[in-house]
Amino acid sequence: MGRFYLTTPIYYVNDAPHMGHAYTTLNGDAICRWRRLHGDDVFYLTGTDEHGLKVQRAAESNNLTPVEQADRTSRRFREAWDLLNIAYDDFIRTTEERHHLSVQTLMSRCNENGYIYKDSYEGHYCVSCEAYYNPSDLEGGNCPIHERPLEPMAEENYFFRLSAFRDRLLEWFDSTPDNISPEGYRNEAEALVRAGLEDLSVSRTSINWGVQVPWDADHVFYVWYDALINYATGVGYGADPERFADWWPATRHLIGKDIIRFHCVYWPAMLMAADVSPLPKLHVHGWLLLSGAKMAKTSLNQITPADLAESLGVDELRYSVLRDNPFGPDSDFSFEGLVQRCNTDLANGLGNLLQRVSAVVVSSCGSAVPAPDPDSPLADVTAAAYEAAAAAWDRVQPSVALESTWRIVRETNEYLQGRQPWKMRPGAELDAVLGDALEALRIVAVLAYPAMPDSCEEIWRRIGMQTPLAQERLPDAARWRGRPEGREVRLGQPLFPRLSPQ
Ligand code: MSP
Repeated sequence: MGRFYLTTPIYYVNDAPHMGHAYTTLNGDAICRWRRLHGDDVFYLTGTDEHGLKVQRAAESNNLTPVEQADRTSRRFREAWDLLNIAYDDFIRTTEERHHLSVQTLMSRCNENGYIYKDSYEGHYCVSCEAYYNPSDLEGGNCPIHERPLEPMAEENYFFRLSAFRDRLLEWFDSTPDNISPEGYRNEAEALVRAGLEDLSVSRTSINWGVQVPWDADHVFYVWYDALINYATGVGYGADPERFADWWPATRHLIGKDIIRFHCVYWPAMLMAADVSPLPKLHVHGWLLLSGAKMAKTSLNQITPADLAESLGVDELRYSVLRDNPFGPDSDFSFEGLVQRCNTDLANGLGNLLQRVSAVVVSSCGSAVPAPDPDSPLADVTAAAYEAAAAAWDRVQPSVALESTWRIVRETNEYLQGRQPWKMRPGAELDAVLGDALEALRIVAVLAYPAMPDSCEEIWRRIGMQTPLAQERLPDAARWRGRPEGREVRLGQPLFPRLSPQ
């Protein structure tokens, strides 16, 4: 048993949650559920990023105060995650007192260690990114991500001596081959460090919506250097050193590729400057694209997780998003694609398997669960699928893990098709076939649980298991087992009705 501390980025509260946010948060939830099935002590943190110009301006245009804007939108994120059955352990808001304290503690430490100084700054700022750009980064004078003009700004700022960390960051890359995955993003991050690091402006005087610089009341910390520290706040930085010491070494961050520079370069340097070790591990994913366009409000793609969950069902949405969009590369995403995936894998695949097996057990065996054959061909199939799925979950590849798990569904359906138990008379042969199919179903329910917790608990109950699936422990739960004691199968309504692609 180990500790496992996983974080999502904290989302800006200028706008409502969309499927891009849901994608990261769902992957994190599934990964945490997989670890919990091993009995790990898991802490899953998500939350909202509430300071900065972007939020302040959104509030102004909505005729709200920044606090009202943050309260309202932060609640919408929590509602979306509750709806999608995200089992987060804590939801952090950067406007909370505990976070202010943590930011002030960490940045003061950087200051005391000589990594902060005051200077004047002039640059071009993208409000959507909440970032300054060098002239060489611009595309046609515009922000390379938002393709919009930048705003010139000049200020007296505090600076963080990022330039002092080049060698130590490169040493981190050299000594830790798995610090960032997948490899392509790791190379990208390392190239940023090698290209040379300029000091960062980390405070602002022009706004007051932020965390106050503790040694200079005229300044607030610039939103990114407040936001990144949420990961430390979440496990007690600045408030509970013991708790922080317990959890921090187990830290992993999930991030989208758009925020690599902040997480893979600036954040590790800040941690080093504040004497916080070890450095976290990072898992980076690409963009979810809708017909080739980034699915964000800026591209007018306003697909809400709630709408999709209503059309497909919560577990159907969870499964099809995780299964169809590998963690790492950019991935195309369409409603039709999700429906097709649900119909193939859930209605025709898993749902059909459950329905056929339960129907025959109820009609021919008086509902009592027969024992599986220890030498069943399906025993090897499930063992191999489990190995492959476990390796994939460990590599943060839910899509591959689910693909491996569905090998069991396919092979079991084929096995039933070949043996035709619905045509057999009651007796040892029928019992053996049904016992095998039920055991395969039991194992699929365990392995698919991180993606579809409620449906897998329901399968679990229908095949007569008494204690909740969530209490099962891997790897034991995936082993081909012996005679079941007193289990009874129940035939219910089809679990995954066919969906229509409209
Ligand atoms: N507030 C910052 C993050 C601070 S973390 C210390 C931020 N917020 S955001 O609301 O813009 O959300 C960023 C994250 O949402 C991305 O890194 C990514 O995880 C997710 N996504 C937003 N749009 C996305 C897609 N179209 N596709 C996949 N994920 C995307 O940046």
